[in-house]
Amino acid sequence: MNEPKRYTVTSALPYANGPAHIGHIAGAYLPADIYVRYLRSKAKDVLFVCGSDEHGAAIEMRARKEGISPKEIVGKYHGMLEKSFQTLGIDFDVYHRTSSELHHETASEYFKVLEEKGEFEVRESEQYFDEEAQQFLADRFITGECPNCHNEEAYGDQCEKCGSSLSPMELIHPKSTLSGKPPVKRKTSHWYLPMQNHESWLKSWIEKGLLNGEPHHNPGEWKTHVLGQCMSWIDGGLHPRAMTRDLDWGVKVPVAGGEGKVLYVWLDAPIGYISATKQWAKNTGKDWRPYWQDQSTKLVHFIGKDNIVFHGIIFPILLKAHGGFILPDNVPANAFLNLEEKKISTSRNWAVWIHEYAERYPDKMDELRYVLTCISPENRDSEFTWQGYADKVNNELVNNYGNFVHRALVLTHKNFESKVPRRGELEPQDKALLEAAATDPGCIGALIEKYQFREALTEAMKLCTKGNIYLTDEAPWLLLNAKKEAYNPERGATVLHVALQFSATLATVMEPFLPFSSARLFGYLNIDPVGWDHAGKDDHLPEGHAIRPSDHLFPRLDPKMVENERTHLQETLKATVSNPAAKPFRNTSTFADFQKIDMRIGQIKEAVPVPKTDKLMQLTVDTGLDVRTIISGIAQHYKAEELIGKKVSVLVNLAPKKMRGIESQGMILLAEDPAGKLVFVVPESDIDPGSEVC
Ligand code: MF3
Ligand code: ZN
Repeated sequence: MNEPKRYTVTSALPYANGPAHIGHIAGAYLPADIYVRYLRSKAKDVLFVCGSDEHGAAIEMRARKEGISPKEIVGKYHGMLEKSFQTLGIDFDVYHRTSSELHHETASEYFKVLEEKGEFEVRESEQYFDEEAQQFLADRFITGECPNCHNEEAYGDQCEKCGSSLSPMELIHPKSTLSGKPPVKRKTSHWYLPMQNHESWLKSWIEKGLLNGEPHHNPGEWKTHVLGQCMSWIDGGLHPRAMTRDLDWGVKVPVAGGEGKVLYVWLDAPIGYISATKQWAKNTGKDWRPYWQDQSTKLVHFIGKDNIVFHGIIFPILLKAHGGFILPDNVPANAFLNLEEKKISTSRNWAVWIHEYAERYPDKMDELRYVLTCISPENRDSEFTWQGYADKVNNELVNNYGNFVHRALVLTHKNFESKVPRRGELEPQDKALLEAAATDPGCIGALIEKYQFREALTEAMKLCTKGNIYLTDEAPWLLLNAKKEAYNPERGATVLHVALQFSATLATVMEPFLPFSSARLFGYLNIDPVGWDHAGKDDHLPEGHAIRPSDHLFPRLDPKMVENERTHLQETLKATVSNPAAKPFRNTSTFADFQKIDMRIGQIKEAVPVPKTDKLMQLTVDTGLDVRTIISGIAQHYKAEELIGKKVSVLVNLAPKKMRGIESQGMILLAEDPAGKLVFVVPESDIDPGSEVC
């Protein structure tokens, strides 16, 4: 694409079914905000839209759980989400919501256009229906046994144990989560998007970046994992996908025969980006159309990896099928963020919630932005730990960036009555630092434009390091101290002059990442924010310019906070564990069922991790009657050497199963807490291998 005339940047609309946590922020919001702030600093025409996704099964499920209506749920969480984004400085031009009238109109109109153009096929099919609740069941409202791994709590769309995607009809012994009863099949009609008809243009668009034979974007700029996921979907064959649902809560299907049906949330939500833009246009008196319909607009969708197919395939199909709309130039999806070695989980309350963080650390929003960018899961899952947070804040923000700025400001206050000192003849080392200030922002910007925010921030921190090395080498505190041998006030003035100009450079390049501290720093320097392209100037502050009283940009963290935060996490986790709703009991089984199970005490003789897996351990177990091989998924919880000699409970008559080419002859009993921690179920006192568990 030539230099775009304007940018439309979107962040995935979060479901208004819960508050925001650090995983959301690191996934789709912070990277987008950095990108947008950078573009704004470059004086580009950029529009940043988001809003709450207020329809779909996720909302309905939450409503049932809390015993209130979907409307009340979205009323509660929409405001919370908006506030969390604000406190973190995620600066949308508009934060809209899909329950708004404007959105309903927009989505409804959009659907009608597609319908009139014959882009849908209406088909009759059988769907699960709950006779007691008198309603069709969304995929998530059906649970049952996974046909692949036999997990009994698989959902109608996915098994969370083995990760396979499912359809409700594949579940063994399906059960409605509404009534707990097996659902019945009922005929119903839906509007399907025949995605297979779009295969050929999609393929060349994704693989080659071509649209109608013309270059559209550079596919080499797409992340490998995003391209990979899109291509594997296409290569797996595209199929018709239902774009309507039998539900009450949502955008009503606006055509004949659509009574009692609503648009599929994945059709309605991305149109939410468009209605948000319309809302912004209304608020500001601008025209929304160029931001979605002008070919010289660059459209970028920031999302999490679970949204890739919707933004890489389905929404592009919908945009193209409608006609008149542009397609995304890129879909820079992030992977997931884990927390203290575990998956972030809303239901288990294993998360750092933004509203809670903001309450405890109201002045540390940049600290969180900093750490989340440093560990951003740009290409693979990554991990947040409180120790890592504290180390990064203290060693990098406090000791590096903050320290440089503080030294420059304090020395100016002390020695020059808070006025920018006179700059004398420049020495090569002064020139070298100013040269770095002039060139590095270009490199940092180039990385941001390539969506490499981690790398960009690393480069920005290297610029701070250059400043610190300069100050340490030049030691202006010695040059300005009459009692020192090195006393040379003119030279001291020049060094501080350079350091102050450099502080303005740092405030500029740090702004997209750390907007609050940059604003403070510009305030201390007593100048207006500088645009990116002027970051490297050496005359931000004229000689004699008064700077303002200053404080540390980043106060040092008390290392005790790490333990406090960890304890807090554990405590709030326990609160959910003691709640039996966390995992409901299974159906009754008879004594006869139980008797089919042969469980014995066994002793582990050998343990070797299974190569190329994270979780699996190959164990040699003495069952008292024989010695056998059992594969167990405990490698992340125990080291091989800890296992030898352990007496454990073994299910010995489980049908053997091959895993990674090794036959596993039985299963070892483990207790799993809701956060996924595994421990062995062991006999309470010593007893021989072979003893029966009965
Ligand atoms: N609400 C969805 C989620 O949280 C994302 C919607 S993105 C949009 O996974 F494109 F549909 F808006
Ligand atoms: Zn499964």
